[in-house]
Amino acid sequence: PEPGWTERADVVVVGSGVAGLTAALRLVEALGPDADVVVVTKDRISVGSTRWAQGGVAAALGPGDTPHEHEVDTLVAGDGACDAEAVRVLVEEGPEAVRELIGLGAQFDLDPEGELSLTREGGHHRDRIIHAGGDATGAEIQRALVAAVGRNPQIRIVKRAHVLDLALAEDGGVAGLTLHEMGQGQHDGVGLVRAPAVVLASGGLGQVFSQTTNPSVSTGDGMAIALRAGATLRDLEFVQFHPTVMYLGPLAAGQQPLISEAVRGEGAFLVDGLESEGGTRFMTGVHELADLAPRDVVAKAIRRRMIETGMPHMWLDARHLGTDRGEDPEAFWQRRFPTILATCRSHGVDPVTDLIPVAPACHYASGGVATDTWGRTDVPGLYATGEVACSGVHGANRLASNSLLEGLVFSRRIADVLPGELRGWAEPVEDARTAGLVAAEARHGLQEVMTDQVGVLRHAAGLAIADQVLAQMHGATDEEPYLDSWEVTNLATLSTALTGAATLRQETRGSHWREDHPDRDDAAWAGHVDVRLLDGEM
Ligand code: SIN
Repeated sequence: PEPGWTERADVVVVGSGVAGLTAALRLVEALGPDADVVVVTKDRISVGSTRWAQGGVAAALGPGDTPHEHEVDTLVAGDGACDAEAVRVLVEEGPEAVRELIGLGAQFDLDPEGELSLTREGGHHRDRIIHAGGDATGAEIQRALVAAVGRNPQIRIVKRAHVLDLALAEDGGVAGLTLHEMGQGQHDGVGLVRAPAVVLASGGLGQVFSQTTNPSVSTGDGMAIALRAGATLRDLEFVQFHPTVMYLGPLAAGQQPLISEAVRGEGAFLVDGLESEGGTRFMTGVHELADLAPRDVVAKAIRRRMIETGMPHMWLDARHLGTDRGEDPEAFWQRRFPTILATCRSHGVDPVTDLIPVAPACHYASGGVATDTWGRTDVPGLYATGEVACSGVHGANRLASNSLLEGLVFSRRIADVLPGELRGWAEPVEDARTAGLVAAEARHGLQEVMTDQVGVLRHAAGLAIADQVLAQMHGATDEEPYLDSWEVTNLATLSTALTGAATLRQETRGSHWREDHPDRDDAAWAGHVDVRLLDGEM
């Protein structure tokens, strides 16, 4: 649609989670007192994925821990697909980024000695996860960042605005972006924000699948608009399924309750039924870290056991938590996991006395818009940070609690380099791209075929079915460009890219599990699968 209004900013940040708000705060500092930074957010400022994060932030802060040990655990989880330099940056700059967040006002849980309380999650060989409010870490980080942004008059927030596309200059670089402010009508709501730099921090794509831990805003918009602007998407096939998401029945769809890995870090374990009814622990013997193996290993083991038993879920036994240190389980749950406790009870499951039904669900896009270690994409003036980006730190499978850390570290890095390479003001060229909108009604069918054919288990025949179904959707355009259809168009674009990448990668690695190619194949598949548009086609 034609923009009804035009504004200017020095930098536009898309997204208001840990990555976006850290970038905005650091950018105003780096650009100086006259800088004007606009943050565009699709809903209210706190609605994205950050506030849902439970487990915490991983960083080598504990006595005896080192960035090198964190690096080794990250590389092992990434299953040979990480960028070694990006991982080194993450683990070395992580502790300082966390201390800066604490300086900004984020309050993390302390141990009885007044030191940061550290817990463990899957794939970590040490207790190195800091947390807040027990299991409300993301909410505390979001609170601290929103407060800091609120104190800064140089940051303008545009709420409830859906970014449509990047505006491009003659040289293919960024000239700003177009957006639609919801509720303002098809003409008045559509605006152009001219800016020489755009930072994408818009999160992931969980809504591609029927069940996900991601909120409803996670429709991969940033990845889709970057692709349409000529950027490269990398490692899309590595979608992480969190092993322990509460199972709410066969018809449950959309965002589902996460049962943090930290619950297993505190001693909970997976079983295939009650012991008194013949149920057994099934992670022992699968991996040296048993229930705390990297999450692809645990998700696959759960899925295997579900198939073997014909059950739609497995169980998490966390009834004994706290007893090893003489604490009553009720008191332990109230203190350590109050959010999860309340959520379970609201669904009629009491983790103090009952097993929790769990199954894997889509959790995190390890891939995204390809960046270097300074957050630069291959479109001049376009940067990406957080889940939307593929900085190379996660490889084939993200290590638990490295995601908030990635947003913190790489947003700081973008602010370090962006001012020195800020482009001049460029006139946006006319947008010759055809919208090719996908009908809003296609959402459910898309999620169903992606879940069935491109989910935890993949094989060539299923991937081909998904590709065919998606191809038909792309042909079906809406008459009116409603916002829903923009979102579904982005979902369809990414689903096609993801299915293509998953089809190409004929091996099993990390979170990408091909039943027809069950082994990791370093000889053929050590590199990345990149997706980009050539003459408008993927
Ligand atoms: C969790 O708390 O299990 C999630 C942590 C993460 O995704 O890194």
